[in-house]
Amino acid sequence: MKRTHTCGALRVEHVDQEVKLTGWAWRRRDHGGLVFVDLRDRTGVVQVVISPETAPEAHAAAHDVRNEFVLHITGRVRHRPDGTENPAIATGLVEVEASALVVLNESKALPFLIDEGPEPSESLRLKHRYLDLRRPSVQKRLFMRSAVASAIRRHLDGEGFIEVETPVLNKSTPEGARYYLVPSRVNPGCFFALPQSPQLFKQILMIAGFERYFQIVKCFRDEDLRADRQPEFTQVDLEMSFVDENDVMAVTEGMIREAFRSVHGIDVGAIPRMTFRDAMDRFGSDKPDTRFALEIRDMCDLAGQSGFKVFLDTVSSGGQVRAICVPGITGYSRKEMDTLTAEAQGYGAKGLAWIRVKEGGFESPITKFFTPEILQGMAERLDAFEGDTMLFVADSPKIVADTLGKLRLSLGARLGLIPEKTFKFLWVTDFPLLEWDEEEKRWQAMHHPFTSPMEADMAKFMSGEDMGSIRARAYDLVLNGFEIGGGSIRIHRSDVQSRMFELLGIGDEEARAKFGFMLDALEFGAPPHGGLALGLDRLVMLMAGAASIRDVIAFPKTQKAACPLTDAPSQVDAKQLKELHLKLATLD
Ligand code: AMO
Ligand code: AMP
Repeated sequence: MKRTHTCGALRVEHVDQEVKLTGWAWRRRDHGGLVFVDLRDRTGVVQVVISPETAPEAHAAAHDVRNEFVLHITGRVRHRPDGTENPAIATGLVEVEASALVVLNESKALPFLIDEGPEPSESLRLKHRYLDLRRPSVQKRLFMRSAVASAIRRHLDGEGFIEVETPVLNKSTPEGARYYLVPSRVNPGCFFALPQSPQLFKQILMIAGFERYFQIVKCFRDEDLRADRQPEFTQVDLEMSFVDENDVMAVTEGMIREAFRSVHGIDVGAIPRMTFRDAMDRFGSDKPDTRFALEIRDMCDLAGQSGFKVFLDTVSSGGQVRAICVPGITGYSRKEMDTLTAEAQGYGAKGLAWIRVKEGGFESPITKFFTPEILQGMAERLDAFEGDTMLFVADSPKIVADTLGKLRLSLGARLGLIPEKTFKFLWVTDFPLLEWDEEEKRWQAMHHPFTSPMEADMAKFMSGEDMGSIRARAYDLVLNGFEIGGGSIRIHRSDVQSRMFELLGIGDEEARAKFGFMLDALEFGAPPHGGLALGLDRLVMLMAGAASIRDVIAFPKTQKAACPLTDAPSQVDAKQLKELHLKLATLD
């Protein structure tokens, strides 16, 4: 049952050769006399012709072949007859005239066609993932994922990184997201946590003297899911000793460059940098999509000179007025502008003020509140010309950034301003170390609590004044508006780490209970170190032009964090629970 060739390999040069092929019957066409089977394997598809005259037995067998039967074909390669060539497929100039056909296995009627047509529902696709994964477009993405992972391994190997596995059964240490917990049978009442990342282990490997570590590793976070979030996902996790930000960024750029070179044949070039402040000011986001402009501009000074109460009140109470300039929507009806306003309100704004730039002037219900000079000044600041619409939001800095940032993205997409098939990378740097958690009324680490403050802000860090302005030695890698990686230079001194816990409101006792091992380790000659983790799923999703990371994960979970293929998660029986010392209770 061996094969001599793969289906996708056959070309004109194979004409007249006797070949043996294996694969799946993708489509079968019975033309009364001749039967055609498109035979598919992971390399492609080739047309097999079975004639009742030359191969009566094979022809009889072919009669019963249905979609997705597994076949072994023996035959001879020949030119397709004139006019029947199919330039759309790689094997389209040839076909195989079968002399024998063996059915290796049958298939039941399919729940959906293995086709490139309209996609069946996701739950059906995931339930029969073995069928869904047979689709060439889906297979292609997994091949790409594998190629990206090997490029990354190749690069890191060349840079002297050692791959070390870290445990999956861990101690629960706060890192932002909710943990998945695993009960311990041998330690009644105790739980392991699945790692959100190998953060502390990689730091301990640095303290242990490995200097350059990496791992392609599963991480687990019990978060609400989105297109770019899964409860289990893969990081390319790395850590280095005796380095600064530039060293970590250089290694990261190296592996990204190698991945794009080997998979897409593209040179990504040097990756530009932007501070967090600039990103928020200009794009309203800490992960700006820089494939298109539509940048946000500050209008506080001009708005403060207007007679428009909304703007005046906002500016005088310490808020902001900012705007973007949108082309191509001056023709929007009143109703369409109301829809846009409702969209802005959905993002948190109280309203959306707009001014159209028309031939010979400005048009808006609020132009009466502005002098011609102010209107002109606003248009100049926004580079707004005839045919453009200026959109303003007045609110707290956070809401202004959020609203205009999201409007920018949705308008950019709707108006076709975002070029496809371009890859725009960006490093975002100079993040704040801490952010205020309004709900819990305390400071949180913006990245994680092991991130070092900037040396220049160390005095503030120690004294605890102006905490919101302390900057972190953290950096994120952004691609086309997605955060594909993040990292930092770490705290490597025990006293600084203890101070960090203190600022976060984690008392001595709690810090010892949760991170005692880390604080101890830092006291035994911890080298300066730093690192980063790339979200491999997000990177491959963007490289493959997929809409969701589910499309580049072989067995993803649904939005409800379930696996329709295996039906996980599921209930367990009473005996299992008893062994784990667990009893189910319904809590309200
Ligand atoms: P961070 O939490 O930023 O950093 O994670 C690193 C990268 O992992 C990806 N990512 C995810 N991908 C899919 N689904 C998720 N639920 C998900 N969560 C995160 C993102 C993100 O940029 N230990 C630190 C890294 C470090 O400091 O070295 C960490 O985990 O692309
Ligand atoms: P009003 O004075 O409430 O009739 O609002 C006049 C215009 O200003 C409407 O287009 C509102 O959507 C808009 N507007 C109201 N509040 C804000 C705000 N905070 N920021 C921007 N525009 C606003």
